[in-house]
Amino acid sequence: MPAPLPSIDAWGDLSGKRVFVRVDFNAPVAEVDGVLSVTDDFRLRAALPLFSTLLDRGATVVAATHFGRPEGRVDERYSVAPLRRALSELAPEVELLENLRFHPGEESNDPEFGASLVKGFDYYVNEAFGASHRAHASIMIPPTLVPSAAGSNLSREVATLLALLESPERPFVAVTGGAKVKDKLGIMKVLAAKADLVIVGGGMAYTFAAAEGRSVGGSLFDPSFVEPCAALLEGGNILIPVDARGLANGSSFGPEGGSEPAISFGEHIPDGFMGLDIGPDTVEIFAAALASARTILWNGPMGVFEDPRFGDGTEAVARAIAASSAVSVVGGGDSVSALGLYGLESDVSFVSTGGGASLELVELGDLPGLRALRESAGVK
Ligand code: 3PG
Ligand code: MG
Repeated sequence: MPAPLPSIDAWGDLSGKRVFVRVDFNAPVAEVDGVLSVTDDFRLRAALPLFSTLLDRGATVVAATHFGRPEGRVDERYSVAPLRRALSELAPEVELLENLRFHPGEESNDPEFGASLVKGFDYYVNEAFGASHRAHASIMIPPTLVPSAAGSNLSREVATLLALLESPERPFVAVTGGAKVKDKLGIMKVLAAKADLVIVGGGMAYTFAAAEGRSVGGSLFDPSFVEPCAALLEGGNILIPVDARGLANGSSFGPEGGSEPAISFGEHIPDGFMGLDIGPDTVEIFAAALASARTILWNGPMGVFEDPRFGDGTEAVARAIAASSAVSVVGGGDSVSALGLYGLESDVSFVSTGGGASLELVELGDLPGLRALRESAGVK
């Protein structure tokens, strides 16, 4: 395990001190009654315990986040105004600066931009777990300049994810899904080595099916990953779908749904058709495997769950995880929103605020933003 992260506890009383807190408030927003509003404030709420601690100790707290991908330009569509409105209800004493990514220096990790952020501040706290896999200026530069520490939520997330990999109660079942096998192969390798069983669903499962010599029709499928998938399957602890539900190629699907009813397929998906969800036999097999697990890590949906016709697999897996008495950890934006959709967030042990960050931490065991905090130890 990497060395522990510096904590704010060492700083004691903070009366008259100014603390800069890097947060990840990159939250979904939508128009509600004509006003752009945060539709899921999970990431905002995760920072509230830290804010309370700092404020109780007398600090002035200024927070900053990225929001969307405005690519280094001021773009009003990515203004933090809706985030500020939400934060003013939750922590009115905390000021939120404008979107860090309005400045090109943020993503290019420009030392001058990073230094400008903490000018006039006594301390820096990284409470942006979800952004700590990005070597961006607001994450990397302040710890080289002012005494710095990890926020309480960030520390908790890191400790939880690393402990899960270090000493899981067994059987440890990992559930992976999502569209692209290319994005998940690295983490799949780690999980296949650490877990007793790795369940695979979502678009990425079709490349595994193809590696078994099955036909996948027009389903998502990446021919350049057939070989690595075949190698993983040889390990013998990977469970892939045995049936599917889908549509004819070219049919429309997505959050708006569509008029064509779902078609059921067995092990093979014929030419002219595509799989968009796991089928009922697969659901049964996956649910049975989850029922006997003592530790579960879930990342990635089982199908196109945004389309109500193809949400059954993801919902069944989410319900099986929620019903289990295993330690259950859910990471990754899509799995977390699926949990929310089915109202199951409080039925799992731990929900990570990080998408890419939680994957990268599980895969590589560390993140650039965490290294920056550890290296800052000597800064006075
Ligand atoms: C996320 O939403 O995953 C984080 O906020 C990181 O955002 P990014 O992928 O745009 O860097
Ligand atoms: Mg449970």
